[in-house]
Amino acid sequence: MSRIACFVERYNFSDPKEAMALQNFRRTAEKMGHTFNFLFREHLQEIPKYDAVFIRATTDPLYIAYVVSKEAWEMGLNVVDDPKSIQICGNKIHLYSLFKKYNVPHIPTIFLNKDEFHHKRIMEIFKTFGRPVVVKAPYTSFSRYVEKAACETSFREVAKRFFRRSDVLAVQEFMPTAFDWRVGVLNNEVLYVCKYMVPKGRWKHGAKRRGRPSFVWGRTVTLKRENAPAELKETALKACEVVGHGLYGVDIKEVNGNYVVVEVNDNPSIYAGNEDLRNRDVYEKIITYLVN
Ligand SMILES: Nc1ncnc2c1ncn2[C@@H]1O[C@H](COP(=O)(O)OP(=O)(O)O)[C@@H](O)[C@H]1O
Ligand SMILES: [Mg+2]
Repeated sequence: MSRIACFVERYNFSDPKEAMALQNFRRTAEKMGHTFNFLFREHLQEIPKYDAVFIRATTDPLYIAYVVSKEAWEMGLNVVDDPKSIQICGNKIHLYSLFKKYNVPHIPTIFLNKDEFHHKRIMEIFKTFGRPVVVKAPYTSFSRYVEKAACETSFREVAKRFFRRSDVLAVQEFMPTAFDWRVGVLNNEVLYVCKYMVPKGRWKHGAKRRGRPSFVWGRTVTLKRENAPAELKETALKACEVVGHGLYGVDIKEVNGNYVVVEVNDNPSIYAGNEDLRNRDVYEKIITYLVN
C-alpha cells in the first residue's frame, strides 16, 4: 500500500474532462489498494507523509510545481514529473540540443544569438529554411512564444520581443500539417496515441493558458496504441530516451511519410475521453509506475 499525493491547482478542475481524469486516477489508485490525495499549494508541508507525488499542475522551472517536484525528489519519493524532466522540457534550447546530439529526427532548427541578430544572418536563415520561418523563445508553453515570420521586418519584430526573454532563440523551418501526433510515453513504453487536429485556418494545434479553463482549439482523435504506425512510436520513444524515464507527451509531425519531433512535453494533458479513449489502462499504468 502506497500513499500517493497528486499535486494540483484549482484550475485543474475547471475542465470537466480533466476533473474526470483526476477522479479516474484517484479511483484507480484506491482500487489498487493505495491512498490518493489531492495536494494543494497550501499543504506542501505534508509532502513527507507520502511515498509518491504525481504532479498535474502546470510544471515550469519557475512555478511552484517545480519546487514540489524538487522537494519530493530530494526526499527520495517517487515523483512524476521529476525535476530533471521539468528542466529539460521547459527549455527548448536544451531539448533541441539533445535531439541534435542524439540524432532524434526533429524539425530543422538553428539557434540564434543576440549578437548574430543582423541583416546578413536573417537573410541566411530565410535562404536555409525558406519562408516563413517559425521563431520560438526557449521557455514557451501553450504556444505563447511561438510565432511565424515571413519577412525581415516581421522577423525583427518577433525576435526583438523574444530576445527580451532570452539571449538565444530557436528558429525553425515551417512545417504545417493537418494534425500533430501526440504520443504518450511512460518509462520507455507507449501509453497512448492521439492526433491533435489543427483547426482550419490555424497552424498550431491548440493553446491553454495557465490558470484558465483549458482552451483547446483542435479536436482529439485517439487511436489504439497497438494500431499506431511503428515508426511513429519508435520516434517518440527515441525522443523521450534523451529526456528521462518518466511520463511524457511527444508532439510529432508527419511530413511525406517521415516523422519529425516537434517537442517532448513533461506533464502531458490527460483528459477523460481523449487520451484514455482507446487504451483504458492509462490510469493503472501510471499508478503502478508511481508506486514501484
Ligand atoms: N516549425 C513548425 N512548423 C509548423 N508548426 C509548428 C512548428 N513548431 C511548432 N508548430 C506548431 O505550434 C505548436 C506549438 O509549438 P511548440 O514548439 O510545441 O511550443 P509550445 O511549447 O509553446 O507548445 C505545435 O504543437 C505545432 O502544432
Ligand atoms: Mg507544444
